[in-house]
Amino acid sequence: MALPIMDNSQRYGAISRLLHWGMALLFAWQFTSATAHWLFPDTPFEEFFWGTHYPVGVLLLTLVVLRAIWALANASRRPPSVSVMAKLGHLALYGLMIAIPTIALIRQYGSGRSLEVFGINLMSGFEGEEITWMTDLGGLLHGELGWTLLALIVGHIVMAILHRKLTHHDVLTRMAR
Ligand code: HEM
Ligand code: HEM
Repeated sequence: MALPIMDNSQRYGAISRLLHWGMALLFAWQFTSATAHWLFPDTPFEEFFWGTHYPVGVLLLTLVVLRAIWALANASRRPPSVSVMAKLGHLALYGLMIAIPTIALIRQYGSGRSLEVFGINLMSGFEGEEITWMTDLGGLLHGELGWTLLALIVGHIVMAILHRKLTHHDVLTRMAR
């Protein structure tokens, strides 16, 4: 049966799935570049991946904004949450997916350095003092919230798989079949 564009009460539709699985791949890439930066500085591994961290991060931020709009447009149609915890968990994933790259962009602006991604000039930079509250915010939170998101994603994947065993809800089929 062809997958409908919009969600329905039984299954997520084509656009929701494309956003979910496409972004899952991009997050795998993003956490690979973060790991390269953290654990393997000054290696060819870091050299290859780290150069992609900013553009992929900005792409993820753009996609999550579109995804949130799509989720709101489908709110009354999509499969209902299986529990309050699942709803809160998904909300937390959205919150972190938006906060982490936004905080990085605030830090980048505050540093006075320019930012170009995919050939588009997002920030032209400025001369003079850094804006310290902006750089401090990023220094304090960007990496920490990033690893928190990774932990939450691992929990999300485990719950998606365990749900069929623990309850009668086979949630995986809503997103994957
Ligand atoms: C959803 C998108 C993003 C995720 C999940 C993410 C995740 C991470 C993580 C986990 C780290 C920690 C690496 C370490 O411990 O060494 C990190 C570091 C970093 N990220 Fe991102 N990032 C994202 C987007 C961005 C964007 C858009 C920028 C730039 C505009 C950026 C710039 C940086 C920088 C400069 C560092 C090194 C300094 C630090 O650890 O805070 N990131 N990122
Ligand atoms: C192997 C990886 C993954 C699996 C097996 C998986 C599985 C699922 C399943 C089965 C659902 C439907 C849950 C329901 O209807 O209650 C779902 C929804 C969701 N997943 Fe994942 N997921 C994975 C990766 C990710 C990643 C990397 C993220 C990013 C943070 C994510 C964020 C979400 C969100 C926010 C929802 C709610 C629906 C939406 O707005 O898209 N998932 N996932």
